[in-house]
Amino acid sequence: MKKKVLVTRAVFDETLAYLAQHFDVASNQADKNYSPDELAAKLQSVQAAVISSTDRVDDSLLARCPGLRAVCSFSVGYNHIDIAACTRRGVMATNTPGVLTDSVADFAVCLMLATCRRLTESEAMLRRGDWKGTHLKELLGMDLHHATVGICGFGRIGRVVARRLRGFEPKILYCARTRLAAELERELQVEFAAKDQLLRQSDIVVLILPYTQETHHYIGARELGLMKRNAVLVNVARGGVVDDAALVAALRARRIWAAGLDVYENEPKLNAELLGLANVVLSPHIASASEPTRQAMAMTAARNCVAALTTGKPANLLNPDVLKQNA
Ligand code: 8YV
Repeated sequence: MKKKVLVTRAVFDETLAYLAQHFDVASNQADKNYSPDELAAKLQSVQAAVISSTDRVDDSLLARCPGLRAVCSFSVGYNHIDIAACTRRGVMATNTPGVLTDSVADFAVCLMLATCRRLTESEAMLRRGDWKGTHLKELLGMDLHHATVGICGFGRIGRVVARRLRGFEPKILYCARTRLAAELERELQVEFAAKDQLLRQSDIVVLILPYTQETHHYIGARELGLMKRNAVLVNVARGGVVDDAALVAALRARRIWAAGLDVYENEPKLNAELLGLANVVLSPHIASASEPTRQAMAMTAARNCVAALTTGKPANLLNPDVLKQNA
């Protein structure tokens, strides 16, 4: 008998066709966001699930799904999965690193430029019919070229952002838990900095770090207070890395100059006050959303799922200790 797999959100036809070669597949092509109870009910009869970062997999959910062997997320971030609980309960957890690195790095640069040059504010003015012609002092922005850019989080994506930025001839500071080898720093033309030093010195601060207990409110009132008054903050990491209420207060008080945000606390709800601010560029968590990249993410998650239930060795296993547990 074929094993059963649930795909919790809408995916591409090719992804479903590939999974259907191996499993009996139930999918959610209507793309309804399941409540925790609905998700638990649907997962009770399957051996694996292809999930999204909008699905919370915690111990209480796993306790209700004893037959579940794998959760395969189409996301690189995995803060929505309780990895320790998965390991304890013998459930393999996987993510999709690598395939979205370039697209997210591209988007980080896009958001930096859009924010520095007030792109959405300018377009809104045009659409309202309020443009009365070019004025020397109108809609003045900040420059990305030759700026000091601070990259917080210097994993795969942060490093590609540094490479992308080279053409803008910036000075690049980075902060990370571990300093890179001197040779790699030279190759990427980046300087290691402590977090507070980076915040004080950067014209643009871009956040690309994972969301963990340690990075909760990594940028709050204290950090915003360290930044330059004409600084731009860009968040393509995760909601929760920034204290959104503190950011609203800083933007309102012009404590910093502007922010570009792709992610929010409590998505898809966002702090309503952000919507009323002109000095913020907002996008709905789309950094990885190019068609080829989203296809590659879905296919990577599906491949992880097939490997989990066939060989037991998915390429992007987040909890290798589970293999000992299951041996
Ligand atoms: C995804 C993301 O679009 O990969 C991640 O961690 O945040 C985004 O690339 C999103 O999580 C879709 O599940």
